[in-house]
Amino acid sequence: MYAFCYRVMFEAGYLTLFGRDTSKPDTQRAAILNILDNFKQFDQVFPALVAGVPIHLFKTAHKAREKLAEGLKHENLSVRDQVSELIRLRMFLNDTLSTFDDMEKAKTHLVILWASQANTIPATFWSLFQMIRNPEALEAASEEVNGALQNAGQTLSSGGNAIYLNQMQLNDLPVLDSIIKEALRLSSASLNIRTAKEDFTLHLEDGSYNIRKDDIIALYPQLMHLDPEIYPDPLTFKYDRYLDENRKAKTSFYSNGNKLKYFYMPFGSGATICPGRLFAVQEIKQFLILMLSYFEVKLVEHQVKCPPLDQSRAGLGILPPLNDIEFKYKLKHL
Ligand code: HEM
Repeated sequence: MYAFCYRVMFEAGYLTLFGRDTSKPDTQRAAILNILDNFKQFDQVFPALVAGVPIHLFKTAHKAREKLAEGLKHENLSVRDQVSELIRLRMFLNDTLSTFDDMEKAKTHLVILWASQANTIPATFWSLFQMIRNPEALEAASEEVNGALQNAGQTLSSGGNAIYLNQMQLNDLPVLDSIIKEALRLSSASLNIRTAKEDFTLHLEDGSYNIRKDDIIALYPQLMHLDPEIYPDPLTFKYDRYLDENRKAKTSFYSNGNKLKYFYMPFGSGATICPGRLFAVQEIKQFLILMLSYFEVKLVEHQVKCPPLDQSRAGLGILPPLNDIEFKYKLKHL
């Protein structure tokens, strides 16, 4: 299932951001698979790079990164069709405001490629896995999606015609939102690093801390995400944890009787909160909608255990599963 999510989300995300090479329609698929391979090689050594190991010590990953960047040079992007507004704007800013050379400009796009894929792929896996594994979640999600498609006048056909839901219709799916949030709550292990701009006193429940200018503070939201005070039975996936009594988004969570301002932070917080968070959730929703609408999906093992999180990436965001899970999918007879 992880391999499946990787393949589907990588291609969809790459083409959405960086457009298509319409000059070579026949080789498009092979080209994407090649890019995906290079991305995997590069991403594999990412924890070591973050720890400060120079990339040239990893020959294959280094080569893979150079190839990825090559594909993102402006001369190569500018012949692609339907490049996203985000990337077009970044190209414009690179060309007008920066002193970067061609390869450096390409590497600014590589940053976006990594940021847009590295967390979204495991987040998609956990959302699909938890949804399929929990019959109540699957039923509630299917019901919500069927209703949304009906309200939007969308009919499905065995030919697999495209589904069009606009942003407002996608926003109005509280059950899917809750499933995705709960899947991310259980799998996110990001570190939010902050540098103090001035001396101040940080007041926390267990005491006060004097922070000096330039001190580095690391917040670890997972401590909050797994706090039984805030989330009773915190290790259990509850698909409706983020739904209120009216089945709308629940926004009131408490610790020691105090209503919390921050209770869900897989996307960070404050000025550097992930700018791709809305896009990421829409992508995952669209993926789940397609899976629910067009396929019968089920896990191969009846009582499959939840795979452990791959802790080697702790601090970097949504952790992938340590082992993959077998699942079956086949086109529905519509
Ligand atoms: C489920 C998917 C995603 C997760 C969990 C995630 C998580 C995060 C986190 C934790 C941060 C650091 C926030 C902080 O320091 O407070 C971040 C930053 C960032 N993310 Fe995401 N992200 C996801 C998807 C995306 C996507 C799809 C894009 C782009 C299309 C993106 C672009 C970025 C960028 C550019 C930053 C740096 C922001 C800055 O430093 O100002 N992310 N993300």
